[in-house]
Amino acid sequence: MTDIDDNEYVDYRLGYGPAILGYADPRVDEAARKGMDVGGVFALSTERELAVAERIARMVPAAELVRFSNSGTEAVMARLRLARAYTGRDDYVILEGSYHGLFDAAMWFTPMDKWNEVGEPTVYPYSEGVPVGLRSFAHFVQANDANQLEDVFKRAAGRIACLLIEPIMGNCLGIAAEPEYLRAARALCDKHGVVLLIDEVKTGFRVARGGVQQLYGVDADLCTFAKAIGNGYPISVLAGREEIMRKLGRGVAHGGTYTAHSVALAAAEKTLEILEETDALERVADYGTRLRDGMRAVLQSRGIPHSFVGHPSMSGLYFAHEPPRNYRDWKRSDYSFYDAMARVLHDERILCEPDSREPWFVSAAHDDSCLADTMRAFEIAVDTTLRTGGAGHRRPA
Ligand SMILES: Cc1ncc(COP(=O)(O)O)c(C=O)c1O
Repeated sequence: MTDIDDNEYVDYRLGYGPAILGYADPRVDEAARKGMDVGGVFALSTERELAVAERIARMVPAAELVRFSNSGTEAVMARLRLARAYTGRDDYVILEGSYHGLFDAAMWFTPMDKWNEVGEPTVYPYSEGVPVGLRSFAHFVQANDANQLEDVFKRAAGRIACLLIEPIMGNCLGIAAEPEYLRAARALCDKHGVVLLIDEVKTGFRVARGGVQQLYGVDADLCTFAKAIGNGYPISVLAGREEIMRKLGRGVAHGGTYTAHSVALAAAEKTLEILEETDALERVADYGTRLRDGMRAVLQSRGIPHSFVGHPSMSGLYFAHEPPRNYRDWKRSDYSFYDAMARVLHDERILCEPDSREPWFVSAAHDDSCLADTMRAFEIAVDTTLRTGGAGHRRPA
């Protein structure tokens, strides 16, 4: 990435994740241009829509039927509506620290940095204008606590439509569900007639060809994809079990003028072809692993406790010995060390997220020279932070 002063950066933000092949991938851009040749929107379905849907269904077994939207928010919002219609229930369960887009039902956040570790942290609306009354539909649980999940399902018996979960929390370090937790969540949903909604907006077509569901061997009832599917073009997917998806158009509304736009669809068609048929994702994971190894060596040699969270393709760097199991653990790490270090990294032309809760995203365009630049800068950033104390950081203990 080049800024307005012609400074060049190695970018690990990737526009919050989408640029899985790197920015302006010529193969995807060429396909997108051809997508425009046929028009833009038609108020009809097209052959390409079917071709992309068939590829998704092949890559993700739970995607028995597929619909397109424009953004992650739209897809998740539609999916919640669908789960509510299917079950005839209004409430939903959501993980503390998770993010599922900017629509009212999902706009709750917990300012964990302000929590004094006594009692329960307060949940706030993410924005003004969110009706506070909506809060009563949402039940919050901590990641990796199946007992708590079961308690909520029992307490609100017959009221919970769905569990909305992002098994690798892409807006919260990359905190990962333990495999047995996700399996327990699947079983509890089955037992209580709750729809399991897996949000793969960030993990989809990134952590594996079949997304986080393939990684864990757990299938959702409904799932959403966006970001990596179009390498930056605006497209998202709502998919899932046929029995539930068939309600769309039969009582449940979903659509919009620009859904399945020919440019975004053509970009997705090419991106998915590359992700399915080349070793792009293996290269992404390999780079991410080498990035972690390099950082680990620097931090270990300075005696700085740390751990990595998530998947090598979207890593969280966490300043404590043990990786966090839930959002409350983040509070117990030295995130101020990360914050101070990130500022030095920016000066050294490494564009990482300034907030430790957003993971580092890797693309197939990151190469050995990016890695060498990153390691050089990382060493400087760590040493500078240790030396200067950064903005109020304490040495990780
Ligand atoms: C897990 C998850 N769900 C939903 C969304 C919303 O997607 P969008 O920003 O495309 O509306 C995001 C965005 O970062 C996300 O990470």
